[in-house]
This record gives sequence, C-alpha cells and structure tokens, in this order.
Amino acid sequence: MLRRAAQGRRDPAAEDETLQLLLACAHMRAPRRILEIGTAEGLTSVALAMECPDAQVTTVEIDADLHERARENFARFAVADRIRAVCADAGSLLPQMREPFDLIFLDGPKAQYVHYFPELKRLLPSGGVLFADDVLLYGWVSGRAETPNKRRSIVERLREYLNAVCSDPDFLTSVLEVGEGVAISIRR
Ligand SMILES: C[S@@+](CC[C@H](N)C(=O)[O-])C[C@H]1O[C@@H](n2cnc3c(N)ncnc32)[C@H](O)[C@@H]1O
Repeated sequence: MLRRAAQGRRDPAAEDETLQLLLACAHMRAPRRILEIGTAEGLTSVALAMECPDAQVTTVEIDADLHERARENFARFAVADRIRAVCADAGSLLPQMREPFDLIFLDGPKAQYVHYFPELKRLLPSGGVLFADDVLLYGWVSGRAETPNKRRSIVERLREYLNAVCSDPDFLTSVLEVGEGVAISIRR
C-alpha cells in the first residue's frame, strides 16, 4: 500500500518490475554494503535491507521531509539499525565518501548520473554492481518516442551517462527495457 501511494508521487518509488530485478541482482551479489542515491520515502531501501539481511545500506536524500519520512519507515519495518540515512546533496557527499560498496542503486537526479559516474566508479570494487534506474525515460533516450522540449537536457545527460558506462572497459553493462529502463553495470 505504501509503495502504491509512493508510485503516484512526483519522484516515485522504483516500479515493481524494476524492484524485482534489483532484488534479484542483490540476491545474486549478496552485498555487505549497499548505497542508494535518492531515498525518497525509503521503500526500496527497506526492500533491499529485508532481502539482504547481512547488508548495511547507506541511502542519500536531499529533501529533508522525505528523509524524515524514510527514517520513520525504517523504524516501522524494523530495519533502522542497518540503514544509514543521510540528508544531503549526493553531488557534494559522493566525493567525501571513502568506503567501497558492493551494490549501488542510482536513482537520484537523472541529469546528474553522468556527473556522479566517476565517483561511483571509485566506490565500486571489482565485482561491484551499479544499477541505474530510469535510463530510458518513456523511450525518449532511445529515440523510440519524441522528447518534449523541456525534457531535452535531461535526455541528453542520460545519453551521456549510457555512453560513458557502456564504453568504459572497466564495466560490463547491459541496458534493459524494464520499467523506465535500467542499466546494470558490473565492475570488472
Ligand atoms: C525516483 S526518487 C527515488 C525513489 C527511491 N529510490 C525508491 O525507489 O523508493 C528520486 C529521489 O532523489 C532525490 N534527489 C533529487 N536530487 C537529489 C540530490 N542532488 N541528492 C540526493 N537526492 C536527490 C529526490 O528528492 C527523490 O526523492
């Protein structure tokens, strides 16, 4: 019910099929440390923490109200002890982070993915998984559907992200038409 309500909002929670794929990846990778960029109300962080009982989750959200709501959800689902919720601009926080992550769920501001990529790469050891959501955005990024004028910049930035990650020889990347498009990149 919480997920249904969150999916109707402006910055929705990950779609069901995206969440299923993310949890399948998490299950295969069995991560000890997970990073999520873009917490929203924390529903995907909760699902990741429940699916990966040995993992610590760090999740970053810029909006203070959403951050508070997420913290309430972490307590409600009894996973607060394994989730570090940070209220910050991911762009400022990432360069300060030092600990490696086995799984990164990139679900924050889409136009920033390409700018975050070098920092995310630095935080991912070999075998780490970078799972980026919404990379195809209604078919606009692939050109399958025409991009509205006001979305052209975000679509260009997402294309740059896909170019960067797909051409990086340190990553093995697959782009899938799941939800609004996901790019799964494994660090070689
Ligand atoms: C698509 S929602 C995240 C949904 C969440 N991952 C889930 O599956 O439930 C994107 C979130 O990124 C947050 N966000 C936007 N810009 C950000 C930034 N610069 N740093 C951190 N979070 C940001 C938004 O406030 C929003 O809550």
